[in-house]
Amino acid sequence: MHWAVIGTGAIGSLMAVNLRRIGEHVSIKPRHTNHSSISIIHNAHSYEFSITTLPLTQPTQIFAAVKAYQVEALLQELSQAPLPEGSSLIISYNGMLDNESMIMPERALHWVTTHGAYRHENEVVHAGMGESWLGWAQVERASSSRPAEVFSALNNALPLLNWSPAINQRRWQKLAVNCLINAFTVIHNCRNGELLQHHLQHDQLVVAQEICWLAQHRGVQLIPEKLVEQAHQVVKNTANNFSSMLMDVRQRRQTEIDYLNGFVARQSAVAGRAAPANEKLWRQVQAISAF
Ligand code: PAF
Repeated sequence: MHWAVIGTGAIGSLMAVNLRRIGEHVSIKPRHTNHSSISIIHNAHSYEFSITTLPLTQPTQIFAAVKAYQVEALLQELSQAPLPEGSSLIISYNGMLDNESMIMPERALHWVTTHGAYRHENEVVHAGMGESWLGWAQVERASSSRPAEVFSALNNALPLLNWSPAINQRRWQKLAVNCLINAFTVIHNCRNGELLQHHLQHDQLVVAQEICWLAQHRGVQLIPEKLVEQAHQVVKNTANNFSSMLMDVRQRRQTEIDYLNGFVARQSAVAGRAAPANEKLWRQVQAISAF
């Protein structure tokens, strides 16, 4: 199969290298480059990738690991020309978009992961083993069968992959864990593990309760105490890491707060209920990251 990886952040790079390692044909579509190829170092080995440009001319599996604020422009770009028959789009990003059910192409798949990776210059480091879930993005397709070849390649490249007809449930869980960790690391300007010293359980429970109300309103059942427990576990497992949001703030990049706690606050208001704890975190991070 031909793969085009979009997004050369940590996860995109890790997937590109691992697909190549299992013998897939992989090229990369970077956001900007003047070069005719890109090299990524992984485990002291350098991998060279050719550059893909749009429109695609042959059936291609697109693996896009991007920031939430890049999704809309990417989908817009991909919609300029029909994808060749046999292509698919696998997309992965943190958080949720207000209008995503309207803009997601019919055959798009969400890929949700707990693998941890970071990039340092042109090297990618697989910092923490995790697992991933793949499922159809459109709820109407949720029970359709899985695309066997794509599933198998992604599973071989970066195991363990689970097929998930309820991918939305996974996405909400991941959204919740990010909402319960990332903003707090920015506010306290600390590593994930240092959050444990700030006695945040009560604040986190209120944030989680608001998330659960909105999830339930959208047909997804989550339990606030379990989410806080999961976040606690993630904080312990990644104690030495700086969260992606704190890294964004420190490197003066746009954060994903609008798509995490901001999403919860906005969408709760639309559904007729305030979410003051998420609103407060959203505003605090916006203020800290207003460069
Ligand atoms: O965004 C991140 O950094 C990670 O998803 C998380 C869960 C906070 C762990 O570092």
